[in-house]
Amino acid sequence: MKLQRTLIFSLLYILILLPHATISLRILNQCDRKTLPDRKSLRTDQFTVLINGYSELRISLLINIAGVYAASPIVAAVVVIWGNPLTSAKTLDSLSSNFSLIYSSGAPVTVHRQKSKSLNSRFLPRRWIKTRGVLICDDDVEVDPKSFEFAFRVWQVNQDRLIGLFGRSHGLDLRRKEWIYTVDQDRYSIVLTKFMMLDVEYLYLYSCGGGDDDYSELRGVVDNMHNCEDILMNFVVADASGRGPILVGAERVRDWGDARNEVMMGRREKEVDVGLSSVKRGLGEHRKRRGECLREFHKILDRMPLRYSYGKVVNSISEQGLCEKRGKLVPCDKQIF
Ligand SMILES: *[C@@H]1O[C@H](CO)[C@@H](O)[C@H](O)[C@H]1NC(C)=O
Repeated sequence: MKLQRTLIFSLLYILILLPHATISLRILNQCDRKTLPDRKSLRTDQFTVLINGYSELRISLLINIAGVYAASPIVAAVVVIWGNPLTSAKTLDSLSSNFSLIYSSGAPVTVHRQKSKSLNSRFLPRRWIKTRGVLICDDDVEVDPKSFEFAFRVWQVNQDRLIGLFGRSHGLDLRRKEWIYTVDQDRYSIVLTKFMMLDVEYLYLYSCGGGDDDYSELRGVVDNMHNCEDILMNFVVADASGRGPILVGAERVRDWGDARNEVMMGRREKEVDVGLSSVKRGLGEHRKRRGECLREFHKILDRMPLRYSYGKVVNSISEQGLCEKRGKLVPCDKQIF
């Protein structure tokens, strides 16, 4: 009788634990170094582009953006990580074959469906990444080749840091005594995944932890908030390197997710509409949620690893140097003193 009861209890126990065991097994597998390429074999003279794709409305734009990257000699591969679970396999297959047709020369362009809905899976370590440098970017940000190639050169000599084009800040609200998410004129501590260049090792650190740090509780916050995976990456990198990100000035950037383009590009309204952080969704609400993330991350870690950086690195050796004027980059020869 007693044996029977023990058996039943063990069986129940196994049934309850089994789903959890398989989940952690899957993560474990992705974190198994043996399944990933040896770091020494990774190229440093080229980088891999991971584009987060989501909206079917933006596919034509995505095709253009991928093509610009694929044409660059310092890009090893372009991979579209498709995050919209509602997109049919047929559409993705068609996109895939269009890529191989249009961009048969240059770097290969492929499409991967993101298997999990979690925003954390944007940063999963991938066995098919063959370079140390990785560019994470969105499907609605167009950057000219000169600028992303310059950003890569900046990364090559600052491999421990995040390189970005869009800066934000954490700040302390002295009255409420709490961390807030904001934009400062003269400093930044966060770069956005609209354009973020980083060492592939940070994907591993984010997803699998390292040393004493296991970021699983922080990744849980990202899942609960459906937001802030980019902020968490800034935490992870600043925590590991003790340094802030580097903002690079680009010559030509077009951010379709930014509602400021709306007036300028009226006919593209649809594409603007679906921008994740578009002004229409309420910038205030967006900032508030991002502030909540900062406070949660801080609470769990019990420290604030984010570091401020100042100024922007600009490509002054190009024929037309860029100068900063009232927070905007303008060609130096047009600068009025
Ligand atoms: C692929 O190209 C064909 C022919 O130009 C087009 O009809 C189709 O919509 C494209 N597929 C995608 C997903 O863009």
